[in-house]
Amino acid sequence: MPKTDFDDFAAAYSADNETNLLNGHYERPAMLDLAGDVAGRHILEAGCGSGPLAAALCDRGATISGFDLSAAMIDLARQRLGNDADLTVADLAKPLPYPDATFDDVTASLVLHYLEDWTEPLAELRRVLKPGGRLILSLNHPFVYTALSPDGNYFDITEFSFDAEHGGHTVTYTIWHRPLQAMTDAFTAAGFRVSAISEPTISPDTPTELRPQGVEHPARFISFIFFVLEAH
Ligand SMILES: C[S@@+](CC[C@H](N)C(=O)[O-])C[C@H]1O[C@@H](n2cnc3c(N)ncnc32)[C@H](O)[C@@H]1O
Repeated sequence: MPKTDFDDFAAAYSADNETNLLNGHYERPAMLDLAGDVAGRHILEAGCGSGPLAAALCDRGATISGFDLSAAMIDLARQRLGNDADLTVADLAKPLPYPDATFDDVTASLVLHYLEDWTEPLAELRRVLKPGGRLILSLNHPFVYTALSPDGNYFDITEFSFDAEHGGHTVTYTIWHRPLQAMTDAFTAAGFRVSAISEPTISPDTPTELRPQGVEHPARFISFIFFVLEAH
């Protein structure tokens, strides 16, 4: 299947991500909520995109480093965070350009599901974390694959595609589905302890026009799954 190349639609994605339901009023508030008080912490944003979560973490007193596979995304992140920000183009599938035990936390929003094999990426994220540090991450909820692919087998690790709109552009995303146990097995094999699994509600401040139609109670909205992992 063709890979999703964010260089092709970085600006449209970034503008939409700012205020839409899925990122602006669901994914990002949930990540910030799970991260809690980050004042004084040195955080690595893996797959930082144009840097909206990085900016919010900076606003809360964290020091941020970030990387992304897409050079266009890193350009946008520089415009947001400034030329002195520690941002680089790097591939989560390859060794990361940071020394061992550098970061208090790693955040990884909606990035790990682009990779088939999580072994080396998780080992690298574990390596750059201080002992006791946290990996806070979001992924497409495994439920989404079964909803979009009724003939698919939930228990397979399999690539699938779906379309999404960003500011009038239709983008075909290709990601890897994993059953929940394959996720938690990979985390524990890499030296992480699962501290929390979260299926959060949308943010209470979500404007009425963005709320999913027919969903009376926000708790019933499922798109992503969130984990807080502790390095040990
Ligand atoms: C859905 S976007 C999320 C961006 C950002 N985390 C956010 O929430 O706004 C996924 C990001 O992961 C990046 N990405 C995909 N595969 C990657 C890889 N192997 N290494 C680093 N970044 C990757 C993409 O370029 C893109 O910026």
